[in-house]
Amino acid sequence: MMQLAGKTALITGAARGIGRAFAAAYIREGARVAIADIDKARAAQTAQDLGDAAWSVNMDVTDQSSIDRAVEHTIRHLGHIDILINNAALFTAAPIVEIDRDDFARVFDVNVSGPLFVMQAVARHMIARGKGGKIINMASQAGRRGEPLVAVYCATKAAVISLTQSAGLDLIRHGINVNAISPGVVDGEHWDGVDAFFAKYENKQPGQKKKEVGDAVPFGRMGTPEDLTGMAVFLASDAAKYIVAQTYNVDGGQWMS
Ligand SMILES: NC(=O)c1ccc[n+]([C@@H]2O[C@H](COP(=O)([O-])OP(=O)(O)OC[C@H]3O[C@@H](n4cnc5c(N)ncnc54)[C@H](O)[C@@H]3O)[C@@H](O)[C@H]2O)c1
Repeated sequence: MMQLAGKTALITGAARGIGRAFAAAYIREGARVAIADIDKARAAQTAQDLGDAAWSVNMDVTDQSSIDRAVEHTIRHLGHIDILINNAALFTAAPIVEIDRDDFARVFDVNVSGPLFVMQAVARHMIARGKGGKIINMASQAGRRGEPLVAVYCATKAAVISLTQSAGLDLIRHGINVNAISPGVVDGEHWDGVDAFFAKYENKQPGQKKKEVGDAVPFGRMGTPEDLTGMAVFLASDAAKYIVAQTYNVDGGQWMS
C-alpha cells in the first residue's frame, strides 16, 4: 500500500538534489507535491520531469512576502498542505578570521530564518485546518559538532536541530509532528560546491575532498539523495505519529546520537 496516498506536501529547495529525490519518493507513495524553490526555471523543469503529481512554485525562503504567497498558492493549488519539508539551504566555509558578516547573515537567513518562517506559515494553515500535519527539517551532521572551516554552516544546522526541538514540543498539541533528518555527506551539486571550498582552503585537487569523505564513511561511500528517502517517507507517514522533536541521523554510520 502507498504510504502517502492522498497527502499533499510542500518541499522547499526541491528543484534539485535531496529535495528533488524527496519529491519523487513522495509521488511514488501517492502524494501530490509542490516543488518550491528560488530557482524558478529549474523548479518548473523538475515538476515537469516528475509528472502530473508535481507542481512548481516560486519561493525565496528569505523573503516573508514570497513565503506567504507561495504557501497561499500551494494551498489553492493542492487544496491544503499535510506535509512540509524545510530542505532549502546554502553552504559556506571560511576560517574564523575570514568569516564575512554579510555571508554570515545571508547563510543564517536561508538556513535558519527560512525554515522557521516557512514552518510558521505552514503551521498556521495546519492549525486552522485542524487536521494536524508533519514537518520535517533538514539538519546535518554539521549541526552535531563544529568543524574548523565550517563554523557558520555548522551553527546554522545546530540551530535547525534546536528549532526542531522547540517547534516539535510547541506544535504537537495541534497534532503536528516536527522532526528532522541529519544526513552525513550526500553526493550531488551541493557537494561539488563543498569540494570547491576545500580545494581553496586546504589546497586539495578538485574531487579530492569528496573522495576522502566518502572513504571515511563507515558504510563505505558517500550517501545518495535516494538513501534519505526512506526516512523522509516514514516521518511523513502515520507510522511516525508518536515521534516528536527528534533529529534522525541517516549518514552511513558517521554519527551516533
Ligand atoms: N548534500 C549533503 O551532503 C548534505 C549533508 C547534510 C545536510 N544536507 C542538507 O540537505 C538539504 C538539501 O541539500 P542538497 O545537497 O540537496 O542541496 P542543493 O544545494 O543541491 O539544493 C538546495 C536547493 O535549495 C534552493 N535554494 C537555495 N536558496 C534558496 C532560497 N533562498 N529559497 C528557496 N530555495 C532556495 C536551491 O536553488 C537548490 O535547489 C540542505 O538543507 C542541506 O543543508 C545536505
